[in-house]
Amino acid sequence: MESINPPWKLGMHVLLLLLLGGSYVSCEEWCYDKSSCGPRTWYSLGQCNGANQSPINIETRKAMPGSHLGPIDFIGYEDRLRPQLLVNNGHYAEVEMKSGAAIFGRGLPATYYLKSFHFHWDKSSAPGSEHAVNGKRYDIELHIVHTKNNMSTEQARKDPEGYAVLAFFLKKDNYAPKMNAWKTLSDLLEFIPEKGNSRQLHGEFSLGGLLKTVDDSHYYRYHGSLTTPPCSESVIWTIFPDPIPVSPQVVKKFTQSLYFTTRKEGRRMQNNFRPVQPFRNRKLFYFTESKYHHDPYQF
Ligand SMILES: *[C@@H]1O[C@H](CO)[C@@H](O)[C@H](O)[C@H]1NC(C)=O
Ligand SMILES: [Zn+2]
Repeated sequence: MESINPPWKLGMHVLLLLLLGGSYVSCEEWCYDKSSCGPRTWYSLGQCNGANQSPINIETRKAMPGSHLGPIDFIGYEDRLRPQLLVNNGHYAEVEMKSGAAIFGRGLPATYYLKSFHFHWDKSSAPGSEHAVNGKRYDIELHIVHTKNNMSTEQARKDPEGYAVLAFFLKKDNYAPKMNAWKTLSDLLEFIPEKGNSRQLHGEFSLGGLLKTVDDSHYYRYHGSLTTPPCSESVIWTIFPDPIPVSPQVVKKFTQSLYFTTRKEGRRMQNNFRPVQPFRNRKLFYFTESKYHHDPYQF
């Protein structure tokens, strides 16, 4: 049988708890690269333990035709003065956009205003996309983040349809067509190696320029969450299955240029994707008007 702790020992425990509690609050931000704060530990944050989480593996044979869906209209995507600031936020590289660009289309309950876009990746040699299509993942995934009727991101998190995120895959390809926008953007990453670094943009590229080769006439649609804490279940996801071919050099710039914190600490920004989450009994739809893709099984 255990003896009852003398009062001084209890006091020690309280002190220890206070010390541990204090350090827990101040140091444990969520992360990707450590077991103490990586994706497996996120279940206690926000809605990360919810039933409608992202990313998912898209099983194309389970997709239903979305008769309520239509082509997406992109407004202001070609404007080179829209991208404003390139940022290393300690989790991924993000481009903040000047307000005004938007998307709309049948199946979206409002006009969704462009706020920012960012990327997820791994090492050059390993797939770093968040979503998978029939189990296949790609090198890099681009997320273009919009909010409903220009809500703030804080408001959008509280609305079940607060965000519309467009996801595109990047695929390393030795024979990728030359795309200046990708070369320009990936070269700029060298200016933001450390957390908190940012670089002002002055018309170097447009978002439309990055998407030039994409066939945007077919996509998958489902309802899910942000893929980073607080994992709010407030996202209308649109996944474009046709990958964007980019040169191996572009992939290398993403995977080798950045650190999660400081160069000195040496935690390379890689592996910054969340693993796929259970789809459970959600509905997955597809839309297509591409004459090459009538059969969703061939997406
Ligand atoms: C959207 O919201 C931002 C930030 O609150 C604001 O500066 C901007 O003018 C708004 N844009 C539109 C088109 O309403
Ligand atoms: Zn993302």
